[in-house]
Amino acid sequence: MLSALEKANVLTEALPYIQKFAGKTIVIKYGGHAMVNPELEELVLKDIILMKLVGMNPVIVHGGGPIIDKWLEKVDIKARFVNGLRITDEATMEVVEMVLVGKVNKGIVNLINRFGGKAVGLCGKDGNLVIAEKKQVTVKNQAGEETFQDLGLVGEVVKVNPEIIQKLTEEGYIPVVSPVGVSSGGETLNINADYVAGALGGALKAHKLVLLTDVEGIYLGEGRESLASRLTASEIPRLIQEGVIKGGMIPKVESCLAALEKGVENVHIVDGRKPHSMLLEIFTNEGIGTMVVKG
Ligand SMILES: Nc1ncnc2c1ncn2[C@@H]1O[C@H](COP(=O)(O)OP(=O)(O)OP(=O)(O)O)[C@@H](O)[C@H]1O
Ligand SMILES: [Mg+2]
Repeated sequence: MLSALEKANVLTEALPYIQKFAGKTIVIKYGGHAMVNPELEELVLKDIILMKLVGMNPVIVHGGGPIIDKWLEKVDIKARFVNGLRITDEATMEVVEMVLVGKVNKGIVNLINRFGGKAVGLCGKDGNLVIAEKKQVTVKNQAGEETFQDLGLVGEVVKVNPEIIQKLTEEGYIPVVSPVGVSSGGETLNINADYVAGALGGALKAHKLVLLTDVEGIYLGEGRESLASRLTASEIPRLIQEGVIKGGMIPKVESCLAALEKGVENVHIVDGRKPHSMLLEIFTNEGIGTMVVKG
């Protein structure tokens, strides 16, 4: 345990970081896979409340994969994925929207409010926050040919209207965004939360994008030693091509690339299972996880 003096030292050490980040927007993707432990969830949300109290503007985008899977199972719908994206028919979409917007979003909002913060939950439909269109994807078949794959009601972000987020942050609220978008024709679309976080980061001209997940960062091989602390944007397509980055990590790195492209300077994939990993990332010089940089 730290002595009182050590605690005071820790606080003063954080001062330059607090000054540096005052007024800056930080978009945090809180992955469903990192959300499964209630004690950790409490720590993550309290860290975010602290960030808000010291003058930053945190914006949360949440996932919810494991919770959606649980509810799909309850209604006998089989979960299927292609390249980390959920194949979403109408029945699946109904469950996705109910679980993400109804249960997961309000669960996070309720906890933040209980811990003394002020949170407001939104999805892409609120204030036309996230306008999307159906995502077109190609996959390789067994013969190695590229073929079109219909994912159903899976969306790709076309436009973000961030005004509602700006209004809420100005008024002292922490916005909590569910990754459900709407098409120009009013169709509800399921969007991977990583993409929403990247697009929101870009639209808000965020200072930082933090993707909290259930791994330490991006591994380039087997085992912990292969963790990349820094990757350059130009290295990423090859890593996906070679299958080093796969599944749920693909939308994450693509979101990082989109955010960098839109001018977000600091883009990090961080382990959401480690207590206070995000605070360490922000308030110290310790580079943890994987940082993706331009170039
Ligand atoms: N090169 C890689 N390095 C690290 N993880 C990788 C890599 N390639 C694929 N992955 C996978 O990506 C997963 C993280 O993405 P996943 O979609 O499962 O979680 P999440 O996005 O945090 O949660 P949710 O999708 O519920 O919001 C890791 O658990 C790991 O299995
Ligand atoms: Mg994911």
